Amino acid sequence: MNSAGTQKRLRKVVFPVAGLGTRFLPATKVVAKEMLPVLDRPLIQYAVDEAVDAGADTLVFVTNRYKHAIADYFDSAYELEETLERAGKHELLATVQGLLPPHVRCVYVTQEQALGLGHAVLCAKPVIGDEPFGVILPDDLIVNKGKSALAQMAELAAREDAGVLAVEEVPRDQTNKYGIVDVSGADEPAARIGHVVEKPDPADAPSNLAIVGRYVLPARIFELLESTRPGAGGEIQLTDAIESLIAESKVLACRFQGVRFDCGNKVGLVRATLHFAMQDPALAKVAREFLS
Ligand code: G1P
Repeated sequence: MNSAGTQKRLRKVVFPVAGLGTRFLPATKVVAKEMLPVLDRPLIQYAVDEAVDAGADTLVFVTNRYKHAIADYFDSAYELEETLERAGKHELLATVQGLLPPHVRCVYVTQEQALGLGHAVLCAKPVIGDEPFGVILPDDLIVNKGKSALAQMAELAAREDAGVLAVEEVPRDQTNKYGIVDVSGADEPAARIGHVVEKPDPADAPSNLAIVGRYVLPARIFELLESTRPGAGGEIQLTDAIESLIAESKVLACRFQGVRFDCGNKVGLVRATLHFAMQDPALAKVAREFLS
């Protein structure tokens, strides 16, 4: 372990999944928004695959008492497996059994009150301990042909001994939906961050470079979160704790390779679905015909 508390390999990734998903009501009355499918896989599966690609072997889900579906999904479904086995449906059986590689374990932590993203991440502290970790917000689905976005960030974090936030440009009039970074050398693939601010009005935003839902952070962030007061929207914001982290250590903005779909809203979910349909030989023709 070195000065910033980072080490070579990223082992643990936190998934804050306690949100209510109000943009997808009424479906999200009973279906966790992370279980909404893009084709035949729920959003959480894409997020978990990305974490595993980045080297993670411990997945920490910060959930609430209503969200049993995520734990059920990753649990083995004995009766279903037995039925598929007996019916000789081995391909289907493999899809059900292969959700996680055998070396990966899931840990579930409850966020008892919805006090914000920063508070959700703080709930993972007892599982993370004193090592750097990743955070993935499953609403942001990121697709890349090569290494996943989090894998790119983990490499950068280890090489530069730094915290890393994924960023991309957003239209100026949307800065109030994101954490916005102020960087020197804005065009470089990895630039040092001077400041971050949560959801600034376009008139006050230091740039239009937004944080998207991927972070690699040192364990020090937990202490900073413990003393972070409620900020934008009255919530304990991860961005505010990162602003304190920036004052004492290096945090980089990573312009990752890949395409992000904001599946926290209907437009993004439709776009992601079309993207994956176009990649699927069995669906591409139908999708193209339908669109034309
Ligand atoms: C959260 C973060 C914000 C970030 C965004 C990315 O906001 O607080 O800094 O830019 O995720 O999706 P939320 O979308 O939960 O309001």
